[in-house]
Amino acid sequence: MTATFPIVRPRRLRRTEALRGLVRENAITAQDLIYPVFVEEEIDEPLAIPTMPGVFRIPERRLAAEIEAIAQDGVTSVILFGISHHKDANGSDSWNTDGLMARMVRIAKAAAPDMVVITDNCFCEYTDHGHCGVMSGNDVDNDATLANLGRQAVVAIDAGADIVAPSAMMDGQVQAIRAALDAAGHTEAPIMAYSSKFASAFYGPFRAAAGCELKGNRLSYQMDPMNGREALRESLIDEAEGADFLMVKPALAYLDVLAELRSRTLLPLVAYQVGGEYAMIKFAAEAGAIDEARAVRETLGAMKRAGAALIISYFARDVVRDGI
Ligand code: PBG
Ligand code: ZN
Repeated sequence: MTATFPIVRPRRLRRTEALRGLVRENAITAQDLIYPVFVEEEIDEPLAIPTMPGVFRIPERRLAAEIEAIAQDGVTSVILFGISHHKDANGSDSWNTDGLMARMVRIAKAAAPDMVVITDNCFCEYTDHGHCGVMSGNDVDNDATLANLGRQAVVAIDAGADIVAPSAMMDGQVQAIRAALDAAGHTEAPIMAYSSKFASAFYGPFRAAAGCELKGNRLSYQMDPMNGREALRESLIDEAEGADFLMVKPALAYLDVLAELRSRTLLPLVAYQVGGEYAMIKFAAEAGAIDEARAVRETLGAMKRAGAALIISYFARDVVRDGI
């Protein structure tokens, strides 16, 4: 008997859910996900963020209860963003040992000691001009900002943070933070570098969420979205400076960078599905244009396929609680 055409039939493995499960190449688990939490001082009620439906600024006074609820939902890691009422030219509240960054870390760790607590290490939420460091004329002074990043990272780890995640895009920031942490005796504290961070339109909703006062742009420090090779260079520099994780941000528009980076480093990679990516899915789903849960699964799955070990996502809590 001769075989009938076609002999090769990939559909054989798609016939039932059990078969599909057997050959499924990627999965998203709770341990892969990091949930961002916005914490505002001096407010009493959670504040809805209109550009990010379902995301709230959490009052510092309610943070302990919120972290307990997040842990209860099964989330194992959070990244904290402070919304400061004590802004100044340099963002000095962020390295005050009793400032918002230190306090929110202490509250989160006390509420859920097993939760991995990560700090976003930058100044834009703590400066009155909204830039990611110390201004000199119309631009951010790289080296003056490095010294402050070191101070801020030490304060975050002293307060109990498990990981620091510098996002300022200053040259040498990983090395400066490593040196400052080591000098403070924190040789075991890991650095999750926002290593390939682009100057992206997709941060629009976040800036509203974080109360960032920025006028102008971050084109002199964040990366040009047109550049792929430079993005690899940025990440490999951070690896050489001692980063423990590398990150590509935003995620969906930069999967080429993530995939290429995967083949060039052995470090764990992080993808950040940013506010604009969240908003696109949320608003399209609200308009009835797409199915939210499936779109979330598909986009997170794409990041996994491209090589992300970890994903920071505003959907993380829903995914962990409701499954995917
Ligand atoms: C701070 C920071 C930003 C984001 C994370 N850390 C904003 C920015 O660089 O303007 C973006 C997160 C998001 O858009 O969801 N530097
Ligand atoms: Zn910043």
